[in-house]
Amino acid sequence: MCGIIAYAGHRPAVPLVLEGLRRLEYRGYDSSGVCFEQGGDLCVIRASGKLQELEDKLSGMQIFLATTGMGHTRWATHGAPTESNAHPHRSFRGGLCLVHNGIIENYQECKNELLRKGVSFQSETDTEVLVNCVEDECGPGLSNLEAFARALSKAQGAYAVAMMARDEPGTIYAARQSAPLLLGIGTGENFVASDIPAFLSYTRDVVFLEDGEIVRMTASSWEVFSLEDLRPVSKNIQRIEWDMQAAQKGGYKHFMLKEIFEQPRALADCMAGRLDSRRMEANVPELMDAEPPERLRIVACGTSYHAGLWAMPLLEEWAGIPCTVEIASEFRYRKPLLSRDEAVLVISQSGETADTIAALRIARAGGARVLALCNVLGSSIAREADLVLYTQAGPEISVASTKALSTQMMALTLMALHWGRVRGSVNEDTRHKAVSALLALPDQLQSLLPGLQSEARSLAQRYAHAKGMFFLGRGQSYPLALEGALKVKELAYIHAEGYASGEMKHGPIALIEPDFPSFFLAPHDALFAKTKSNLEEVCARSGPVIVLTNPQRQGMELRDGTQWILPEAWGPLAGFFLLPALQLFSYEAASSLGKDVDQPRNLAKSVTVE
Ligand code: M6R
Repeated sequence: MCGIIAYAGHRPAVPLVLEGLRRLEYRGYDSSGVCFEQGGDLCVIRASGKLQELEDKLSGMQIFLATTGMGHTRWATHGAPTESNAHPHRSFRGGLCLVHNGIIENYQECKNELLRKGVSFQSETDTEVLVNCVEDECGPGLSNLEAFARALSKAQGAYAVAMMARDEPGTIYAARQSAPLLLGIGTGENFVASDIPAFLSYTRDVVFLEDGEIVRMTASSWEVFSLEDLRPVSKNIQRIEWDMQAAQKGGYKHFMLKEIFEQPRALADCMAGRLDSRRMEANVPELMDAEPPERLRIVACGTSYHAGLWAMPLLEEWAGIPCTVEIASEFRYRKPLLSRDEAVLVISQSGETADTIAALRIARAGGARVLALCNVLGSSIAREADLVLYTQAGPEISVASTKALSTQMMALTLMALHWGRVRGSVNEDTRHKAVSALLALPDQLQSLLPGLQSEARSLAQRYAHAKGMFFLGRGQSYPLALEGALKVKELAYIHAEGYASGEMKHGPIALIEPDFPSFFLAPHDALFAKTKSNLEEVCARSGPVIVLTNPQRQGMELRDGTQWILPEAWGPLAGFFLLPALQLFSYEAASSLGKDVDQPRNLAKSVTVE
């Protein structure tokens, strides 16, 4: 996830673009860059690190003459967050510059073709490939618009792009496919950006672009075309009434809510290039050259630890790899016996969690191969691991982990399927069912989320004043029960315990009384009957229950409680629906209690101390 802004108008473009990038910094912040017209050429200035680094670089430069320019703040996906990988990227012959948000899935094929034609590359990015694809299409009799459209129609994946051409001063080209991009319409000036705050100080008139649309814009004109045949598309201008703060959250009240609703996109990004829908198999490029381990030890903290617990049965059943899962702060102070045929997989959204880094170093020192599953590119864990897999969730701003967990679950599912295929331990039927269910997930979740939120709100209003609550589940629902309890504790400050349902009778059931609710995770799986018995034990002791279950189980006898019916997902994938329900319940509980949802007390996003 990156931020794009482009401007054509009458004001100095570079300061305006920098101001826009400031407002987009939440979308990515590991490097940035600008492109502007100067002396008949395109001038590109880039810097790694925070936007301030770029501003420092530009401070002594003559930047006030250009009135057309564009900028980018990066959340790295291909290549480390270095200056050479920062956007804008210039084409080989120098005539075009391009900024990009998204992932071009077929970039390697395109790059190979360009290499054969003698193009050389300065960066590791898919963006530099794309700008060269456009240049490759340029030729006599073809306009820049046509070349741009031809190149984009060959690109697979998700993108929002803006482009400037040396031979067409004052003009910006832009396009989108499954990534946000909009136009800001001013008087004698126009804007393209990933998000409204980037230009909200200058105009409130916005044109929302759709997938497959291309824009050509100057200071005094803007036109939208269909990518397919360059037919003009007529668009409506909409007036935005939001204030700046609301706009930065994309209209959501909190970053947490925004990030919960971003999960369909994040899951699709995590799968991109790793699931082969023709062969119906997982093909994770990062794992291609690595032998599957004989044994796997997963080490992580907090929500990331729950991801490991959730994936353990899949890694064992599908990949046939014996697997254990440990809390990093415990692992680091034991003297674990590690063997050479064993790999340690550390999971961390931030890649900077102190205990997880320490665990990684202990594992390495003990001779184990270390794999990492991270979200933040170039983070300490990503740099120190032998092999890293990125979850591609995009920046997670809210302290509470949401899309980070669902993408960790997705990446681990893909790993289990990939290794299962390589080892021949997953049968074809399971593989087919898993892949088709995974491919359908983003759309299903997209349509499910609004309804989940209203249900979560009414349940939260009923139960948010409880003095404590249980979250209970079996099998793969058990780690999600732990996660549900963690979320309610950290956000709503309600004491909540996550338990394996079968453990209730060994002590915790003593707490059950009429004002102590239990949240049962009871999807329609092989363990449903067992969970139901535990549910009845709670009901028999006058404990109110909330039962998250599937339509087949509708109409269950409950003395006091509510059934929350979710559509059924295929087998082990039920968690991808249960999880957002739990996230929304904790979100709504915290909101109804007036808590600071995005920055809960005593917590930090990245726990860099032990
Ligand atoms: O960045 P990490 O995944 O290593 O962070 C680990 C935990 O601190 C984190 O998952 C924490 O539990 C969440 N913020 C909870 O929502």
